[in-house]
Amino acid sequence: MKTDSALQPRIEPPADELNLTSQVAQVSETVPVAAPVQESVVVLDFGSQYTQLITRRVRELNVYSQLVPNDASWETVRALQPRAIILSGGPSSVYDTGAPGLPPWVVESGLPVLAICYGLQLLAHQLGGRVDPSKVREYGPATVRVVADAELFDGLPRQLPVWMSHGDSVTALPEGFELLASSPAAEYSAVRRGTTYGLQFHPEVAHTPSGGQILANFLFKIAKLEPSWTPAHFVEEATERIRAQVGEHRVLCALSGGVDSAVAATLIHAAIGDRLTCIFVNNGLLREGEAEQVVDVFREQQHLDLRYVDASDRFLAALRDVTDPEEKRRRIGETFIRVFEQEALSLGEIPFLAQGTLYPDMIESTTPETRSAARIKTHHNVGGLPLDIRFKLVEPLKLLFKDEVRKVGTQLGLPDEIVHRQPFPGPGLAVRILGEVTSERLQALRACDAIVRGEITVAGLDRQVWQSFAVLTPMRTVGVMGDGRTYGNVVAIRAVTSEDAMTAAWARLPYDVLDRISTRIVNEVPEATRVVYDVTSKPPGTIEWE
Ligand code: XMP
Repeated sequence: MKTDSALQPRIEPPADELNLTSQVAQVSETVPVAAPVQESVVVLDFGSQYTQLITRRVRELNVYSQLVPNDASWETVRALQPRAIILSGGPSSVYDTGAPGLPPWVVESGLPVLAICYGLQLLAHQLGGRVDPSKVREYGPATVRVVADAELFDGLPRQLPVWMSHGDSVTALPEGFELLASSPAAEYSAVRRGTTYGLQFHPEVAHTPSGGQILANFLFKIAKLEPSWTPAHFVEEATERIRAQVGEHRVLCALSGGVDSAVAATLIHAAIGDRLTCIFVNNGLLREGEAEQVVDVFREQQHLDLRYVDASDRFLAALRDVTDPEEKRRRIGETFIRVFEQEALSLGEIPFLAQGTLYPDMIESTTPETRSAARIKTHHNVGGLPLDIRFKLVEPLKLLFKDEVRKVGTQLGLPDEIVHRQPFPGPGLAVRILGEVTSERLQALRACDAIVRGEITVAGLDRQVWQSFAVLTPMRTVGVMGDGRTYGNVVAIRAVTSEDAMTAAWARLPYDVLDRISTRIVNEVPEATRVVYDVTSKPPGTIEWE
């Protein structure tokens, strides 16, 4: 659910495409390589912050693509059935000690190659060309002039606006290479030898408007790939895999109501039918109508074997007198585990547990940055199950990005309300109630939240915001209603736009939408006397208040 729209602040370029000069050493040897599903484009990771983006862009063109470490062996890569190789950019200079080198199999494989930025410099350097620090460093927009006919630029004009981000440049080409395009600061902005192409600029970022066409030309005209990576194809292939993995056994799945576990469960159900049993724990911290909706969609519409456990009282009891956000999370996580275990035990022997792990989780959980990142909050969700474990994991979505998961969900016939549901934290409304969580306060917040969500939907903004919700604060202020004095709580409204929740901007909601939300909350929810709008971005704020 990408939320680029009028609601986003005007920042050019977007924050996640800044700081290209970051010298953060990216250790890529830990990027996991998943088993092949079909012919693929292998993206060799040299540590650019755009490596995932390259993979996504290729997949958006319906070609399967995987990221692999830059020191991957040919045996590993060959197993992925590569039909083309893309060399990513990276923060190193080819002259740095310890700078990643070019594995010999890249050239020896004879596969079409697209080398981007550092990838190009590396290729030039190792094949006998020359790379020097640029006289004029190029960071940001530039224009390249195409000077030779090449399939890579088919259908494009001779002048192309592009996005550059480099301190070094190729200054002499290796033998057999020809010049295709230049910019004022980088003579060798695009080069070719046979089906090996090099680009100094970044075709994968939105700031290179013709980047999609360039990548499509590389995939379809040069590498002669077919656009066969589609949701239907994925479903077909994934069901076979699931059957092969679980054989005649049963699988257990914790449904949270979120899109990942919903799609994982539906996919597994498509593969093994009633040998899948889902457990849905109502922790009493859900939004209005949510528990009923999950039961209706999965039990009544999708005919899943769904065990519904109402453990609201147990969670509320565990949260009594707790005000510390981390302690709330800890108790909710622990209670969930207890309830889930108890229910699972009553189901007899089930060797497999389904998880909605996604591709970015796989990559991020193994990068040094995430290992060393300061713990801001403990995230508890159904992924935080007791894995000390007697279960083997079934993770049918681990090759997919979030937007691909949504497409697969639609392909499987899940309704839009599930497929395009906003992310919702595992600890639910408990981390949106500052202070103690009581049933009265939950009821008040639920009513406020329903108003926020309802008005956002009526205004047609659902797909434009990443998340929108209410927060109940313990702060009390004076108001006046009719002729009387009121004294009640401040309710905060939070709405953000984001690409991936790592960074977020507060959504520029129209004033009339904010006005309707505020008026309705104060009129309809007796506990609320005042409504404020949160105008903090992430960073420095987080999306949730706790
Ligand atoms: P923050 O508040 O850290 O949130 O900016 C980033 C994203 O994660 C969600 N979130 C959680 N999800 N368990 C979850 O499953 C949690 O404890 C949790 N805390 C935050 C949040 O809603 C946002 O989408």
